[in-house]
Amino acid sequence: MLRSLLLTLLLATPAAAQNLDSLLARMTLEEKLGQLNLLSANGRASPEQMQLVRAGKLGGLFNVIGAENTTPVQRIVVTESRLKIPLLFGLDVIHGYRTIFPIPLGEASSFDPDAAEATARAAGQEAAAFGINWTYAPMVDIARDPRWGRIAEGSGEDPFLGSMMAAARVRGFQQTIFATAKHFAGYGGAEAGRDYNETEISERTMREIYLPPFKAAVDAGVASLMSAFNDIAGVPASGNAWLTGTVLRHEWGFKGFVVSDWTSIAELIQHGVAGSQAEAGRRALMAGVDMDMQSSIYADSIAALLRANRIPMAFVDSAVMHILRAKQRLGLFRDPYRVRTAPPNAELRAIARRVAGESIVLLKNERSLLPLDPRAGTIAVIGPLADNKEEPLGPWHTQGQAADVVTVLQGIRSRASGVQVVYAQGAGVEDTSTAGFTAAVAAARQAKVAILVLGERGDMSGEAASRSALDLPGVQEQLLEAVAATGTPVVLVLINGRPLILPWASDHVPAIVETWFLGVEAGNATADVLFGDVNPSAKLPVTFPRVLGQIPLYYNHRNTGRPPDVNNKYTSKYIDVPVTPRYPFGFGLSYTTFGYSNLKLNTARARVSDTVTATITVTNTGSREGTEVVQLYVRDEVASVAPRLRELKAFRRVTLKPGESRAVDLRVAVRDLWFIGLDMKPVVEPGTFRVFVGPNSVEGQEAVFELVP
Ligand code: NOJ
Repeated sequence: MLRSLLLTLLLATPAAAQNLDSLLARMTLEEKLGQLNLLSANGRASPEQMQLVRAGKLGGLFNVIGAENTTPVQRIVVTESRLKIPLLFGLDVIHGYRTIFPIPLGEASSFDPDAAEATARAAGQEAAAFGINWTYAPMVDIARDPRWGRIAEGSGEDPFLGSMMAAARVRGFQQTIFATAKHFAGYGGAEAGRDYNETEISERTMREIYLPPFKAAVDAGVASLMSAFNDIAGVPASGNAWLTGTVLRHEWGFKGFVVSDWTSIAELIQHGVAGSQAEAGRRALMAGVDMDMQSSIYADSIAALLRANRIPMAFVDSAVMHILRAKQRLGLFRDPYRVRTAPPNAELRAIARRVAGESIVLLKNERSLLPLDPRAGTIAVIGPLADNKEEPLGPWHTQGQAADVVTVLQGIRSRASGVQVVYAQGAGVEDTSTAGFTAAVAAARQAKVAILVLGERGDMSGEAASRSALDLPGVQEQLLEAVAATGTPVVLVLINGRPLILPWASDHVPAIVETWFLGVEAGNATADVLFGDVNPSAKLPVTFPRVLGQIPLYYNHRNTGRPPDVNNKYTSKYIDVPVTPRYPFGFGLSYTTFGYSNLKLNTARARVSDTVTATITVTNTGSREGTEVVQLYVRDEVASVAPRLRELKAFRRVTLKPGESRAVDLRVAVRDLWFIGLDMKPVVEPGTFRVFVGPNSVEGQEAVFELVP
């Protein structure tokens, strides 16, 4: 409540608001098309861009770095351009500006929307201190294929978790700057996980799986959406009137503006749906893409289309108004510079460390090898990423600097200062040489425990970084096996941007910790978990397959007519590998254990307007305080369209002392149990619903309720 009030105040239309209708009436066609034009600078605006700024022929610039570069440009707009319409200054502030937080996929593992809101708010505040007023985040694409490198930038495979995170990030950023929900839509459905590839998404799957996080962002008041590069069943998203018109404007009532992705309007030509620049521009504008990022097609081609009566002026005016209204909502007419003070560095780093600790998933911990006793004896820290300052920043680190990063080795050294810590790199991330193995093996031999820090370089995920293999690159797997062969117990610390497939490690390494790309506090947060100062609580926001051939593998699938049955060959499975994942969605261990008992629903019969409350007793059955993410899934037992076996509908983080039990309530509004019916409209059908409450997407207690008409 307070938060939304604050947001309203911050983004409110100023009292002395520009009358936008009269402003529009005063604009020349060139000035109107200028507002629709967005160009990338290279750190600073170029002389040609400055000319456009003076002439009122730009709506915004992006990649202008630093207030010393944004402020003079804005000054020219408001002092020298005819209509003095301030510019938007955009940037990809994805998981931090200078202070880099965990990648969004990592942060989603926290199942803690407040954490996501906190980092987005901090990132927005820091960016605003450098003159940025608009970020191209959050990325809210659902991704079911870990080959796709951009899975790192989103919240994983689940529409409910994705929606919670999307809304939280929008709220966080928009305390100071504008957010952009991207990439609208279906970009994560790239066939074979190949970036920019075509997608084949049915309208039902689009509405049930890919669109909900965008809807959540719109409901949270997001200022802009970015239209995606991909096509959906042959219709490119940047020229798709159904998406940006029917769904976004008419069904959802979106009042903000739509920006294209980088040259995605020009790319309509490559897609083969436009024969010329003018055709591409016409298609995109008429579909509802308001702002042209980097193609300059609107600026160059729309005037001729207007003259030839090939596009009505109303389309131009409506796009211009969307952008002017956004500028007004941000307060740019009143305060064009909007340079804000960043929170103190210590505060930013404290957020980074806390959220990084919450993002670490404990995948395996045999015989309670973890947490380590920092005084127990020599520790060997081994691997290409153990003392690497660059890679923990991840794929989109804006102004993040390697010098700011605490490496895992540094984190361990400062926490275990009383014991000897020996380090050997062993190999580089993609090395083919095993020359460094001797030193690594020697280090492990003299240690009580060997911590291997392995994984991917930051640029092996993110945009244009699809992989066809999801194992450890280079000779890292061999390094792991060579060190394990010494007999020294091994802790595998993974640094990576996507689910990896590590059958040998899963079978043979006693402890595995998934840390993703954690940002500047990577080393401290990892040490916090390794030594038990932080008890891991994160859960996987995405399924980890056993083998590549299982992809796409996700938890919220349908039963099929022949569900897998080991005793029946003619059922839906493989002959050479189980159908189950290596680590399921929602899975993650703790240094304590939790018991679930006594699941009760507040009602056995509910109506569509009701809310069903599930109450379950969660007990900390171990000897440490810990936080459990209690998850609630629902299955519609019989419906007119084959239901998914489980769908996440609620979750809660609960902190319990050893031995403590608590009755935990989770609520589900029955109207949220909709699916897309036979008539392609959302429907909630009467019948039996099975509720599962537990620690992940495969375990849990069950109860049923009847939805009555
Ligand atoms: C292309 C990417 O797809 C998008 O996510 C990003 O915001 C733009 N480039 C601008 O850098």
